[in-house]
Amino acid sequence: MSDKKARVSLAGSQDVIELPVLEGTIGPDVIDVRSLVSKGVFTYDPGFMSTASTESSITYIDGDAGVLLHRGYPIDQLADHSDYLETCYLLLKGELPDAANKQAFTDEIKRHTMVDAQIAQLLNGFQRNAHPMAVLISLTGALAALYHDSLDVDDAEHRHLAAIRLIAKMPTLAAMIYKHSIGQPVMSPINSLTYAENFLHMMFGVPAEGPNVSSVLAKAVDVIFLLHADHEQNASTSTVRLAGSTGANPYACISSGIAALWGPAHGGANEAVLKMLNEIGDESRIEEFIAKAKDKDDPFRLMGFGHRVYKNFDPRSKVMRKICDEVLADLGVENDPLFRIARRLEKIALEDQYFIERKLYPNVDFYSGIILKAIGIPTSMFTVIFALGRTPGWISHWNEMLSGPYKIGRPRQLYRGSPKRDYPV
Ligand code: CMC
Repeated sequence: MSDKKARVSLAGSQDVIELPVLEGTIGPDVIDVRSLVSKGVFTYDPGFMSTASTESSITYIDGDAGVLLHRGYPIDQLADHSDYLETCYLLLKGELPDAANKQAFTDEIKRHTMVDAQIAQLLNGFQRNAHPMAVLISLTGALAALYHDSLDVDDAEHRHLAAIRLIAKMPTLAAMIYKHSIGQPVMSPINSLTYAENFLHMMFGVPAEGPNVSSVLAKAVDVIFLLHADHEQNASTSTVRLAGSTGANPYACISSGIAALWGPAHGGANEAVLKMLNEIGDESRIEEFIAKAKDKDDPFRLMGFGHRVYKNFDPRSKVMRKICDEVLADLGVENDPLFRIARRLEKIALEDQYFIERKLYPNVDFYSGIILKAIGIPTSMFTVIFALGRTPGWISHWNEMLSGPYKIGRPRQLYRGSPKRDYPV
């Protein structure tokens, strides 16, 4: 702890409250306000704009500089040299694995890719047009009903098993949900395939044919998973931590994270990008939509642009943009009208003073939406892909919290309702 102190005095009181100032490895200092409650006051910070909800050593973001580090490693280096499962290991365990540990981790994941047949029965109870996120929330939570012998959150072995099961089964669940929605038989995982190949095989393969997965698309999907793997204390991760702080089981916690991710201000934005591109419909209408986005009297915003934390190019977007070019070229769809609109939109927004002045860069959802669409993944599945990729981040944060001393998350409030009054009799 540093010797720095912050001093607070309340108007009308002689008392000065001295608060410790905590220093992170990098990043801004943090004033420790925990002792304030004993002085009879709370702090007020809706939206956590100025409040660190926890200490963490998993991920660091500097939004002004456009920096994202996992366990200290820059995201672009991980995207270039690592792969999704290795990044999962890094997030969970804190260090990159050596070759033997990497193989052992991959093998362990592969041993858990299948899901119990009763989960398929539960899936069959859903209407085919159910939103995939609604189904994913349900199936993930239902896993707890199968593993009640290993739900002791104070047992590190049980927590490890839950992490492996969740990372291993997410692609299987996601693909099952898609197959159910289109009325095709559910595909079993093939463990000789890589994690991303297996996902694409279960999504697009059919039992009558063997696996036939493009290596370019598998690489793109692996990088998409990797780029979504963690993002510090975002809304869904904070939801997982809050649920976990009650001692709830891991499947319930991850299910609550998936629910929080579904919102359009969070993971639902990639779906919104594609809806917007379809609405624009033709290059001739781009200027009209740019004008709408700039108009203060119009609530319309350019979906896939801007970020709460990144006021610089999101480092994930830079990688995603490159992958986007490769995928469109590999599939020969660069001239597809929808993708031409996306390219023009990107160019105009990057050159337009309105977007430059407000630091509104294309975000990760802009490019991921385009890539997923090009691969043939339906729009309603986009946020499911985000959830799949984010699973190791959620589990790492949940595990980090449970591995140390923690308290139930219980925010206070500023009460502005009626004072005490008597019931009229
Ligand atoms: N299109 C047009 N104008 C925008 C946009 C946009 N996409 N985003 C922000 N602005 C303007 C906004 O009107 C305001 O202008 P002014 O200063 O003249 O009033 C200024 O930029 C600052 O906006 P803000 O609302 O204060 O910024 P924020 O940090 O609160 O919002 C955001 C961040 C991501 C919610 C917002 O940029 C947005 O709505 N973007 C579109 C939706 C989107 O793509 N969301 C995905 C975010 S990344 C996913 C994730 O991490 O989960």
